[in-house]
Amino acid sequence: MKFTFYGHSCFAIETGGNKILFDPFISGNELAKHIDIDKIEADYILVSHGHGDHVGDLVHIAQRTGAKVIAAYELINWAQKNGVKNVHPINLGSTTFEFGKLRFLPAWHSSTMPDGSAGGSAGGFLMPDAEKKFYYSGDTALMMDMQLVPRFAKLDFAVLPIGGNFTMDADDALIAAEFIQCDKIIGVHFDTFGYIKVNHEEVIAKFKAAGKELILLEIGETISI
Ligand code: NI
Ligand code: MN
Repeated sequence: MKFTFYGHSCFAIETGGNKILFDPFISGNELAKHIDIDKIEADYILVSHGHGDHVGDLVHIAQRTGAKVIAAYELINWAQKNGVKNVHPINLGSTTFEFGKLRFLPAWHSSTMPDGSAGGSAGGFLMPDAEKKFYYSGDTALMMDMQLVPRFAKLDFAVLPIGGNFTMDADDALIAAEFIQCDKIIGVHFDTFGYIKVNHEEVIAKFKAAGKELILLEIGETISI
């Protein structure tokens, strides 16, 4: 399965012919200035919560691509008010799309839209029917609910925040990796701001010492996973 990292917590996968973009925040990211948001293709855009560092380019990319935006009901209300037409509101739970089942799992985080309106529940996504089964936790603290994930899917990989301050740091992400029973983690939500800078070698070594792999991709890098 193709996986592309666009910086911060923005990434895209291709599964079953569907291009799915997550948490589009690129043009506001100083580290991602080389990414042209008008070249990104998407059939679906999934948004974990309403903070600016997750919805910054949502309206622009959704309008240009016509991609279906899937997110919490309240976040969708904001998107519609801002001119996004193709939407599918959800809440914590699960439903099925063309790309298979999608679970919207809770995240311990807040969710307020850039205009101050409510964003609904912050969450993460589990895609048990993707070509490679994966879980993206969204912005969250470490939480016991992650222990439910192995009941839903035997994961091939997971996408977890590692930057700390607003989310889990690498130590907590390592415990999360144990909770979700997954050995291959792609780290996100690091380096973008001063508060969340990480020492790459150090965090990669921590995972390695625990028998797990932490992958930190270059912004714009595509891997086959
Ligand atoms: Ni956030
Ligand atoms: Mn964030």
